[in-house]
Amino acid sequence: MSERSRDLPRRSCLAVPGSSERFLEKAPGIEADMSFLDLEDSVAPLEKEAARSKVINAIKSLDWDDRVLCVRVNGWDTKWTYQDVIEVVGNAGERLDEVMLPKVSSASEIIALDLLLTQIEANAKLPAGHIGIEAQIETAQGLINVEEICAASSRLEAIVFGPADFAASIEMPVLTGGVEIPDYPGDHFNYVFSKILMAGRANCIQVIDGPYLKIRDIEGLRAYSQRSRILGYDGKWALHPDQVQLLNEVFSPTQEQFDRASDIVEVYKNATETDRKGAVMLGDEMIDEASRKMALKFLSRGERAGLVRSKT
Ligand code: GLV
Ligand code: MG
Repeated sequence: MSERSRDLPRRSCLAVPGSSERFLEKAPGIEADMSFLDLEDSVAPLEKEAARSKVINAIKSLDWDDRVLCVRVNGWDTKWTYQDVIEVVGNAGERLDEVMLPKVSSASEIIALDLLLTQIEANAKLPAGHIGIEAQIETAQGLINVEEICAASSRLEAIVFGPADFAASIEMPVLTGGVEIPDYPGDHFNYVFSKILMAGRANCIQVIDGPYLKIRDIEGLRAYSQRSRILGYDGKWALHPDQVQLLNEVFSPTQEQFDRASDIVEVYKNATETDRKGAVMLGDEMIDEASRKMALKFLSRGERAGLVRSKT
């Protein structure tokens, strides 16, 4: 895994089609936590090979500040994967943090990519283990195997849900993936969101929700992205620059939550260390060790989002 990017925020993960020089050039100016330069489904088959050098050129020549920088290669069920990886990772240099592998159906696909990366790193004089992996779960088989997939390599930094391909894989009767289905009484993906989240958290990697395809419906995105945020996801994909700011907001704690979390940690520390008590009242609520653990998550996310405690 890439030491640099593993813990960086991924509230907004912007997809950039690798075949478009225009979109590649615009991407660094969009304030996404992560940009991934795509060689997979946003690139037409006839443009796949030419896109590789465009992506390499963009990685090397543009200023990507300190965001997570990733390339999505084509899946192992195509003829492009190994050449995508060899050409891009072999030539992009150290600024590339990660490779995203789509449609992962078993742990062996991650192991194969890990082995390939190890050889490329040695030949390209990259630090050993520099390139991290993000794995997309977007098939029924992938979901069944998600626990083994998340444990397959120390290079894994994030597990990512792909709702559009997933809906196709399970034959869900929808024509737009990753949006609400008002006819369904509840959240049609709740099981999927939860299963992926458990596998990711059990292996200490970030957990990311995929695209919301109605790109002009910003309020719809706000409502829909609350589902995965409330469960505990770290961030979500953006397909358009207009989605980025909203996602940065939705996946950050509010100032009020951050301040409350700071109070919990402080009051609990005093209670345990000075007064030797395991539980104490804060306002009208009893707090204990579990409260501290919940609060620490808000603090680390808030700090990653640049929040500081308000003056009291
Ligand atoms: C993303 O790749 C998706 O299929 O939703
Ligand atoms: Mg997909």
